[in-house]
Amino acid sequence: MKRTKVKELLNSTAYGAEIKLQGWVRTFRNNQFIAVNDGSTINNIQAVVDFQNTDEATLKRLTTGAAISIIGELIESMGKGQKVEVKVKTLEILGDSDAEIFPLQPKKHSLEFLREIAHLRFRTNTFNAVFKVRHALAFAVHQFFNEKGFVYLHTPIITASDAEGAGEMFRVTSLDFDNPPRDEAGKVDFKQDFFGKSTNLTVSGQLEGELAAMALGEIYTFGPTFRAENSNTTRHLAEFWMIEPEVAFNDLEDNAALAEGLLQYVIQYALENCADELEFLNNRLLEEEKSKPMDERSEMDLLTKLRFASTSDFERLTYTEAIEILKNSTPNKKKKFKYLIEHWGADLQSEHERYLVEKHFKKPVILTDYPKDIKSFYMRLNDDGKTVRAMDILFPGIGEIIGGSQREERLDYLEKRMDEMHIPKDELYWYLDTRRFGTAPHAGFGLGFERLVLFVTGMTNIRDVIPFPRAPKTAEF
Ligand code: 4AD
Ligand code: MG
Repeated sequence: MKRTKVKELLNSTAYGAEIKLQGWVRTFRNNQFIAVNDGSTINNIQAVVDFQNTDEATLKRLTTGAAISIIGELIESMGKGQKVEVKVKTLEILGDSDAEIFPLQPKKHSLEFLREIAHLRFRTNTFNAVFKVRHALAFAVHQFFNEKGFVYLHTPIITASDAEGAGEMFRVTSLDFDNPPRDEAGKVDFKQDFFGKSTNLTVSGQLEGELAAMALGEIYTFGPTFRAENSNTTRHLAEFWMIEPEVAFNDLEDNAALAEGLLQYVIQYALENCADELEFLNNRLLEEEKSKPMDERSEMDLLTKLRFASTSDFERLTYTEAIEILKNSTPNKKKKFKYLIEHWGADLQSEHERYLVEKHFKKPVILTDYPKDIKSFYMRLNDDGKTVRAMDILFPGIGEIIGGSQREERLDYLEKRMDEMHIPKDELYWYLDTRRFGTAPHAGFGLGFERLVLFVTGMTNIRDVIPFPRAPKTAEF
């Protein structure tokens, strides 16, 4: 007999039917009621055991976490809160779970504790919901681009370049770490390394993405990226997934419109396809908020926030306009910002980004035209000679969710910028070739996938939206 998933059983009205139910025990009460979960939904189904005709030893093994297989009859439930339940005919324990040592008990555990047992946290409702939403968002990203005719491009994970020029790379080598070969000057000789040169894990697929976009027209990447930045925050990971579209002939306005369209589409998709999960996460947050003082509670609950973000236009303004707002803001005047905004050219910290989004505009914001000195070498220089055609999208509770730009398509400008920023032109000859042969305006951006999942699930720590987080001093599992 084939098993029926809990999700299907809960929606069934085939009362009297014999069914097979397999899953894990969440709770066992009154020596009679088993709450069974099989992962297909965050909801459990109740299985009722005839304890008088079941041997004592078997009943004792019905502990939280045990895997069981039941043949039973689907019946209408008398209890409240559920439509159906299963009357157990035969019960088999597939795998015991010793209650004395199983770390998950039927009570609320802190997210910090669950992070330490990330190999088991999938078994909680919260993480069931988070990873279902994560899946739905990934699927929606592909659907969005596929509908628009984009090509999903797999860019390399091992590269010899630093796409962002920020030097935050993890080296990849097969040299003997204790005794590497050296050249005449005494430096490690990477000519003898596996690839015959020094290589690292990619920080971004953009440069390779641009090569393909200049022929295929519209591409996107969706893959893991790696940054050895020592940021121990709730929004940084050393290994994260990024979505990077790149479009030939697009300018910055087209780029912003594409980004806004993508974000609204995927949030809408989650609202439509993860109703149970989002309702659960919404209630979880409401519960959490109850312990906060009134003035610290959010103005919108999660579902309202998602509906709002997926339907209202994002605010667009330039970096220069934002600096004016920040300079004159109350927290700046009262010296409440950790980094005070004193002059044009200052890099924006997440406290500034969040002020703009959460306090000033109260909606997602697209900031454009940043000073060239705080942005990457490949961004197109504006006629003022000071700013570049950059764009960051800022989200409430998150700060920067997207970073992108119109690219510098003019060979002479690009070469000049690379010289100024000490980016090796000879190593990037292949990148410069796009500007040598048939160059054209183009633009793209990178969406941090975990920051998106963070926003949609309402979780607060990025380590809780990726199954096994990699961060400074953290590489367990
Ligand atoms: O702004 P970033 O560094 O931009 C790029 O990498 C460009 N090459 C993208 C492009 O134009 N194709 O990163 C893009 C996004 C950020 O806005 C943020 O959402 C996310 O990637 N991100 C991180 N997410 C988690 N942990 C980190 N350490 C992240 N660094 C960036
Ligand atoms: Mg950025």
